[in-house]
Amino acid sequence: MKLSIVGSGYVGLVTGACFAEVGHSVICVDNDQSKVKQLQAGQIPIYEPGLEELIKKNVAAGRLTFTASIAEGVQNSEVVFIAVPTPPREDGSVDLSFIEKVAREVAAVLTEYRVIVDKSTVPVKTGDKVAQTIARYNKKKVEFDVVSNPEFLREGSAVADLMKPDRIVIGADSEKAVKTMRAIYEPFKAKILVTDLNSAELIKHAANSFLALKISYINALSAICEASGANVEMVADGMGADHRIGRAFLNAGIGYGGSCFPKDISAFIKISEELGYDFKLLKEVEHINAHQRERFLKKIRETLWVFKDKQIGLLGLAFKGNTDDVRSSVAIELAQQMLKEGAKIKAYDPKAMDKAAPLFKSKGFTMCASAEEVAEGADAIILATEWVDFKTIDWGSMASKMISPILFDGRNLLNPDKMSKFGYQYFSIGR
Ligand SMILES: NC(=O)c1ccc[n+]([C@@H]2O[C@H](COP(=O)([O-])OP(=O)(O)OC[C@H]3O[C@@H](n4cnc5c(N)ncnc54)[C@H](O)[C@@H]3O)[C@@H](O)[C@H]2O)c1
Repeated sequence: MKLSIVGSGYVGLVTGACFAEVGHSVICVDNDQSKVKQLQAGQIPIYEPGLEELIKKNVAAGRLTFTASIAEGVQNSEVVFIAVPTPPREDGSVDLSFIEKVAREVAAVLTEYRVIVDKSTVPVKTGDKVAQTIARYNKKKVEFDVVSNPEFLREGSAVADLMKPDRIVIGADSEKAVKTMRAIYEPFKAKILVTDLNSAELIKHAANSFLALKISYINALSAICEASGANVEMVADGMGADHRIGRAFLNAGIGYGGSCFPKDISAFIKISEELGYDFKLLKEVEHINAHQRERFLKKIRETLWVFKDKQIGLLGLAFKGNTDDVRSSVAIELAQQMLKEGAKIKAYDPKAMDKAAPLFKSKGFTMCASAEEVAEGADAIILATEWVDFKTIDWGSMASKMISPILFDGRNLLNPDKMSKFGYQYFSIGR
């Protein structure tokens, strides 16, 4: 089928590449001219495992092209996906101006029937607004359908998640549109759940909020484990073995960050409020998340006494492992707080240093070429991102480079006994 995707970021670009991989003909549209030029020149603006190969292969096969013209995308495809940002406003509500703008732009160039699919994460009832906007701004009064098709991919494993999804949610009020959507997803051989438009939109916020709730639940338990001498990993294993609970998302740490959870949870609180429900449970999820970071900083402060003039080695800048995305990264927020308190930071991340660099203007912050360089002369090391690469570092040699081997593992990535054997004063979360 002929498809276009408006917005070529983490969601749009990976979706476009995967649709092309299963045989569709895909036009990726972006209004960032430099990004389009980069893509046309064969450069991939984001890091996502397997993405570069997939894009190159499908571009060579003639199934994947890039343009800055929305008209080119809409006119040459049967279905138009929208995958533009839905960032948070100051008050936590969703800024829908990107979606609204795309709806107007699509309307302006719509000359025959199209299915317009929203893939961005949006508040319930946004589809109705998109439909109203297109109808209002389309002079030719062309027939069209609006569908909600929320995306559940995880950065760091986006290609695999898209190629083998747990389920595909299609929210539509038109049989014709559902038929088209089923045809697009048929090659993926995945479970398809067809719902009404509002339910599909709600599923995405409900799912992300529940996952964040699991993280905050285990993080709250980690505080209880620390206070009682229990081990949070053993508790999570014991709980998670119950299939009604599941072990996933029960890893204690310094809290969730990234471009989705923080904004989606605050958005869902706001959406609920507007619908007349005070979602106190989710407010507590946010509170626990912020508190977890504070507890971690407190632990570091208590050990180092003062941050001023301390040399801190920071391992990890990305919001999680396997990605270069630094949006709302807890690692970065921790670094900024320590810099504010006078610490000097030397940081290393396998993929996220280019994206993180513009966020640090302070002289006290330097990037390092390797994890070993981070350890040189450090008063302490903080492991803030769960890159598997950090597991296999020569931690013995790292210890010998430090002033005194003190290690704060914010992701419970390392083995406490092993680290003690290397001579570290080792701190982790809830164990
Ligand atoms: N990143 C994730 O892991 C993830 C997962 C599921 C859902 N989502 C949701 O998907 C949406 C997109 O997220 P993302 O992470 O891909 O964002 P992103 O910032 O990586 O990409 C968005 C792209 O849209 C482009 N854009 C903005 N306005 C445009 C316009 N008018 N016309 C054409 N292009 C335009 C931007 O230049 C950018 O390249 C958000 O609603 C997000 O919540 C994200």
